[in-house]
Formats: sequence, C-alpha cells, structure tokens
Amino acid sequence: MKVYHLAAECYPVAKVGGLADVVGALPKYQNEAGIQAAVVLPFYNRKFVQESGFDVIFEASTLLGKKRYEFEIWKERTNKLGFELYLVYVPGLLDRQEVYMYPDEREQFLIFQLAFLDWINWSQQRPDIIHCHDHHVGLIPFLMKHSALYSKRYAKTKTVFTIHNGQYHGAFGYDKFDYLPEVDMSFAGLLDWQGAINPLACAIKCVDKFTAVSPSYLQELTRSSNGLEYLFWLEYAKGQGIINGIDTDVWNPYKDPMIKAKIDADEPVKGKLANKKALCERFGLSVDQPLIAFIGRLVGEKGADLLPEAFSRSLQKHAGKVNIIMLGAGDKETEAALTKLNDIFPANYKTYIGYNEELAHQIYAGSDFLLMPSRVEPCGLNQLYSLRYGTLPIVRSTGGLIDTVIDFGETDGYGICFNEANVEDICYSIDRAVTLYENIEHLDLLRKRMMALDFSWTKSAREYILLYESLTPII
Ligand code: ADP
Ligand code: GLC
Repeated sequence: MKVYHLAAECYPVAKVGGLADVVGALPKYQNEAGIQAAVVLPFYNRKFVQESGFDVIFEASTLLGKKRYEFEIWKERTNKLGFELYLVYVPGLLDRQEVYMYPDEREQFLIFQLAFLDWINWSQQRPDIIHCHDHHVGLIPFLMKHSALYSKRYAKTKTVFTIHNGQYHGAFGYDKFDYLPEVDMSFAGLLDWQGAINPLACAIKCVDKFTAVSPSYLQELTRSSNGLEYLFWLEYAKGQGIINGIDTDVWNPYKDPMIKAKIDADEPVKGKLANKKALCERFGLSVDQPLIAFIGRLVGEKGADLLPEAFSRSLQKHAGKVNIIMLGAGDKETEAALTKLNDIFPANYKTYIGYNEELAHQIYAGSDFLLMPSRVEPCGLNQLYSLRYGTLPIVRSTGGLIDTVIDFGETDGYGICFNEANVEDICYSIDRAVTLYENIEHLDLLRKRMMALDFSWTKSAREYILLYESLTPII
C-alpha cells in the first residue's frame, strides 16, 4: 500500500509544534509496519534542507488563477528519516524560511496542493491513500473529486484527513475561487462554510474518512470547533479518534544525547536528580525545591495568559519553596508579563523566551512537574514526553489530556488533573504538587508508574493502517 502524507510541518525539517512531531514519526512507524508511507512538504529554506542531499525528480509549471508558477519536486536522497521525503519547491512562494505567517499564505498552500496533484497526475502514479494533515492541505480531497483536471487520475485513490487543530480553518473569500482549476461553480456548496471557502470544512465534507488526534477531541469538535460544531455533528460517523504516539527514537530518556544523564525507568531517582542539577545550575536555581515547568506556544489555547498571575500567586504563597521554569514564545503581552517575574522572584523563577529544542529535552528530563493549563488540547505531546521522562504532568482535563493522564488520586493514576482553565485551579494544582513533593517516596512510585506506560507509535500507526485498509478493500 502506498500512502502520501501531506502537511505544512515535519520534524526535523520544519517544526512549529506537535504537528511536526507527528508527521516526522507516524510515516516511519508505518513503514516499519510494512506499508510504503512518504511525506510531502513545502520547501523551506532551513537547516535540514541546506544540510541534506536532494535530487530534483520532476519539473513543471502550474496555474494559480492567471499566474503561472514553475515548480520542482525535490526528493531526499537517503531516506534518512525512515521515509521518502519530497519537497515542493516554487521560487517566489515556497522557498522561504518561516513556516507560517506570510501575507500570501493562502497562495503558498494552494500552490503546494496544486503542484502535488500535478506531479502525481503527470508522473502517472496511483497512490492508494493521500493522507492530509490540517487545513493547509484541506482542499486536496475536494480537488481530487471535483476538479476536472484531476478527477480521472484519482478515481481509485482514497483520502484521509487528520485534524490536529480544529480552531484554525484557513478560510478565504470567493475572490480566489479561480485558484481552483477546472471546478464547476455548482460544487461551491462543498467548499463553503458561512459564506467563505473553508478548507477545513471542505475536507470534512469531501474526505473518505477523517480522524482527530484523540477520541475525546473528536467528541469536543461537535461542541467547540470555532463554528464548525454542526458540521462535525453531521459528519460524526465519518470520524475516528486516534491518539498520537511519540517517537521513542527521538524521545528516549535512556539515550537522549541532549540530556545530561540517562534516566532508568526502573530506578529513575539518580538520573532525574542529575538532570535536575544540570538544569538548575544553568538557570541559577537551587535544586532542593520542587521544579515546575511550562513548555509551549504562548497562546490562549494553551492557557498561557493565565500563567503570569498563577505563577506570581504560587511563588508568593510557597515563598522560596517552589521553583518554576517557563520555555515558550508567542503572545507579546504574555511574554512581557512572564519575563517581568524574573525580577520579582529572581531566586525561584526563570523565563526563557524563544524556541529551543535541546532545552525542551533538558526541561522534560530535569523537572519534577510539567504544567499544561490548556483551554484546547487536541492531543498534546508535552505530557507524553514528560511521562516518558519521569516528570509528573499537571493538566487541565480537556481533549487528549483526558485520554492520557489519570490523576494520582485515582487507581493507577500518575498525574495531577484539574477541571477549569483558570488561575485558581492552576494554583490549587501547584499546591498539590508541592505537597506531593514532600512525600518523595510516593513521587518516586508515581515516576516509575508513568515511565512504564507505553505511548509509542506502534499501536496508533497500526490503527491508521487498519483505517486505510477499510477504505481500500482487496478485491
Ligand atoms: P502544539 O502542537 O499545540 O504546540 P503539542 O503538545 O502537540 O502542542 O506539541 C508541542 C511540541 O512543540 C512539543 O514537541 C514541544 O516540546 C515543542 N515546543 C513547544 N514550544 C517549544 C519551545 N518554545 N521550545 C522548544 N520546543 C517547544
Ligand atoms: C496540534 C494540537 C496538539 C497536538 C498536535 C499534534 O498542534 O494543538 O494538541 O498534540 O497538533 O497532533
């Protein structure tokens, strides 16, 4: 079975968040399970691309409205990521460094989708499955079925669409309708949601099967998806919740080259302490207090705006008895408020504004607790990494956090869960963490329990394969 994954991100080629981690891992595990899974990305002028060898395997041009763009398909030479990697290179549109936030983002992602479809079409391939991730590639299922340019070629290819984040739809106006080649206006109903072309809504309507990155998030989409609730309710039967896994080659506390000491799942105490010492030394914090961390995008979905007040209250209440490290970037007001705390609590608090993959590994390894006060969390990978590194997650029960973290007060639990994304619930959970830290034997038991959990991709990669097989029965 041949599958193409299409997405805007893929670790380590281009990463902004968890989407990259999933697209950089799932295909590898699918190949190990015996199918042929490849990844297609827009070209980014970034370190990985500059340092790897590629061959140009296809050249053509495609029309976006009235403008013709030359494009090339680049193939990575060695399959070093565990899958075939293809990049769509379009001078002037797909040759930049950043992944998002360009004013012509619509054009960028449209040309990406069209060039991919053209390449498959003209090179006469017949993949079994095209698996699209998030709204950036949401028009592919529609174009395959309803553009006269592609519909013949793709009659036998099935589509799967995974929702990593249903808050973003990528909607744009009908003034760009002519970007969609050879599409009859009578199909506009499939493109439309509330008077705009909505790639996420269109994908849900046109795809053969869609998935959400956790079972709880699939349900949540019918209640909260930024205006698409009714659509998700209507199409619910076409959906499936499949929890993300983690790439245990990259996130392995036994041999992670980015951390100070290995952490043994059966005897984590020594390794955790060595990593905590290294981390505290780097940030000038003392090692005796419980160390609580936050890693993530500083946006409302992650509850980041609640952090300055919650941290400030907890640091005052537990004066000198708790330490906090924050790694993240995003909303400028939140960045400033968090940075200000450095001066107010110099001995117990540190903010690191920016994106730092290595530091993230060190924080997962060296902290005692990881806080995730998310308002929306379709799956969440941070808690899975922290579980694997023996760091107790403190999570708001939503989406994938419901499916992966059990409160330590419950049978076989290992985390701290709270219900509301508000300052009071965060502070109360930090109180619980501080109290738990006083009973170090209990904490060690919980560490062993969480490190024995298996959130590897093996099971979920198979679930996706079963889903593909259900769409492509052997005749
Ligand atoms: P999301 O994709 O919504 O941001 P996830 O929990 O799925 O959330 O994944 C976040 C990923 O991005 C994790 O790999 C996390 O370690 C990483 N990450 C987020 N912010 C930073 C940062 N500032 N520096 C390093 N890694 C980060
Ligand atoms: C999104 C979600 C996050 C999820 C990730 C990977 O960015 O916000 O919860 O883990 O995608 O699926």
